[in-house]
Formats: sequence, structure tokens, C-alpha cells
Amino acid sequence: MEKNLEIVIGEQELRQRVRELGAEISRDYAGRSPILVSVLKGAFVFLADLVREISIPVAVDFMAITRYGAGRRGGAVRIEKDLDLAIAGRDVLVVEDIVDTGLTLGYLMKNLGARDPASLAVCTLLDRRARRLTKLPLRYVGFEVPDRFLVGYGLDHRELHRNLPHLAALPEEATAPGGP
Ligand code: IMP
Ligand code: MG
Repeated sequence: MEKNLEIVIGEQELRQRVRELGAEISRDYAGRSPILVSVLKGAFVFLADLVREISIPVAVDFMAITRYGAGRRGGAVRIEKDLDLAIAGRDVLVVEDIVDTGLTLGYLMKNLGARDPASLAVCTLLDRRARRLTKLPLRYVGFEVPDRFLVGYGLDHRELHRNLPHLAALPEEATAPGGP
């Protein structure tokens, strides 16, 4: 691992928490067969581990969205890749890597909600409440994290570090505007 990356949540801790979330979801959705909707790309590692800790039948689908306009914190959201599955009448569980401002998820919830799912809930690995701009109900949260930019376990900085098996914090200067 690069020496300037500081481990924030280790592999064992991730595995243990993902196991707990999987058990909780299996219990809560017993007798049903939810569709897990994941948002590319950051949530792909979490989703892959989570589904293997779920003991009920689930379907999996993916969406890709981009934010454009007024920078990372604002602007509009556009769907780059829509779901393959129809979700009307189905139980939908959105699986996210991290909820930061909540703008991305807020848009997604509105969009998915309009398709008349039987239920709609969120499972996020990470919750960074300090920067939340919009109120969102998060049914399952893996960890609350401080306001530091994180990489690894699917999360990237400029498309790198997704393959780290743990979550790490980048040094502040790396994420500052004009940084490396
Ligand atoms: P939000 O719309 O501000 O909540 O942004 C959420 C999305 O921004 C996440 O799904 C991630 O893709 C990305 N993101 C937010 N914080 C981080 C971080 O610390 N590391 C990597 N990606 C992040
Ligand atoms: Mg994301």
C-alpha cells in the first residue's frame, strides 16, 4: 500500500460489519425477494461481499448516474445506464458505497420511487453525515465516517485505489483543488 494512505477501516472490520448487514437484511426481507440496486461504480465491491452474506433470494441490478453542472456539490443528475429490471411492485433496496451530501441518492430515490416499487429502502456502507444537504432515510448503515476523503473497497480517487481491501484516507493535500 502507498505509504501516504492511512487505514481507516480494516479488512476484518469490514467483513464483520458486512456479515451483520447481510444477516439483518435476510431477516427483514424473509419470505420476499428484493432487488438490490447498486450505483456504479463505487458500490461494486460492497455489493459483491454483501450479496454473499444474504441468505434469501435476491436479484441484482445496476445503475450509472453522473452529476454535472455546478461542481461536485451541486448540479443536476443524469442517468447514464438505467436498470435492466422493472421494479414496479418489487421490494427495492438501494446499495450505496457512501452517502455524502445525499444529492445523488436523493435524486435516485425520487426517480426509483416514481416507478411504484412495493418498498424502497437504502443500505449504505458509509454515512458521512457532516456534509448532508438533504434529509434521507437510511435503513442500513455500515459505518459513520468523518469528513475525510476515503478510498479503497470500491471507492476511488480519480479512478484509482478501488482495489484496496480496506478503507483508507487520502492525505488532505491530495484531494485539495489542484492537488496531485
Ligand atoms: P453525494 O451525492 O454527495 O452524497 O455523493 C455520493 C457519491 O460521491 C458517492 O456515491 C461516491 O461515489 C462519491 N463520494 C463521496 N465521498 C467520497 C469519498 O470519500 N471517496 C470516494 N467517493 C466519494
Ligand atoms: Mg457512488
